[in-house]
Amino acid sequence: MEQNEDVVSEARSEAEGAQDSRSLYEVKMKYLGKAGKVTGLLKRMKEVPAEERPAFGKRINDLRVKLESHFAALEEKMKQKELARKLASERIDVTMPGKRREKGAEHPVTRVKNQLIDIFAGMGFEVFEGTEIESEYYNFTALNTPADHPARDMQDTFYVTDEFLLRTQTSAGQIRMMEKKSPPIKMLCPGRVFRSDDDATHSPMFHQMEGLVVDKGVTLCDLQGMLDEFARAMFSRSSKTRLRPSYFPFTEPSVEVDVSCAACGGKGCSLCKGTGWIEVLGAGMVNRRVLENCGVDPDEYTGFAFGMGIERIAMLKYGINNIKLLTENDVRFLKQFQE
Ligand code: DAH
Repeated sequence: MEQNEDVVSEARSEAEGAQDSRSLYEVKMKYLGKAGKVTGLLKRMKEVPAEERPAFGKRINDLRVKLESHFAALEEKMKQKELARKLASERIDVTMPGKRREKGAEHPVTRVKNQLIDIFAGMGFEVFEGTEIESEYYNFTALNTPADHPARDMQDTFYVTDEFLLRTQTSAGQIRMMEKKSPPIKMLCPGRVFRSDDDATHSPMFHQMEGLVVDKGVTLCDLQGMLDEFARAMFSRSSKTRLRPSYFPFTEPSVEVDVSCAACGGKGCSLCKGTGWIEVLGAGMVNRRVLENCGVDPDEYTGFAFGMGIERIAMLKYGINNIKLLTENDVRFLKQFQE
């Protein structure tokens, strides 16, 4: 009988020590399970004299019932404890401010690029995207750029190999297009270009938008008419353009195109440095040599081309004073373009 009491107190102290329901269950099985220690006591019945057996059996049964209710109480307590623990660990403070998801905005360069495509697509231009790695032939030679032109210099151009380079201008798209398709051509070529150049208004990587029109009887007047329409759509209904003579190897004649300053309406201000005009792009009549290089007969067809910096247009349109703001991706800057 004493041994029996020992088994019970052993079971109780082990049960008290259980840290969770699983270990409590294991203790329970160790004593009350089929192969458990209490069940094992019953097997010693045969050692007990026959007349004492009923009393012995009853005693053990009482112990079992007591132990069972002890375990039941402990199990209930453990369940409560575990629930409390779970609730504490999953506690949510509903008074804490929520995590807000930031709304994105279209990047100003993307926005201006899409606006440009919209404007020119409305005039019948198709979009052609060339490749960022070009051969020297498409980027310079076919565009009538002399072998000793300073733009070809390693200082200005990133060469990948002796023959290939990161395109310095989307003008290469003109050649690709004229080789692919015969006139009439109305092409828009947007994309990244690369130059070894770095200051507040120049970045080693920026975007350009090239335009090319080739057909019979295309003139400089057509170019200006189209650019007027572009300036009105991009800047203000009252914008005007002005052509100034310039030089590009791939156009003849070549012009710089100014747009009347939208900030002061042409009266002169700090943005236009008092002139009333802002330079926005280069253009001209496609040089006969360029047409010839692409197998287009310059006596039958003429064309004009233009090229502009998308960052420059974005900076003018939105009053951005440093080109770096466009690549730093500071959310305080980008947020200003949310609609
Ligand atoms: N490719 C010239 C540049 O990067 C821009 C340009 C000027 C493009 C005149 C043209 C053009 O198509 O006709 O500075």
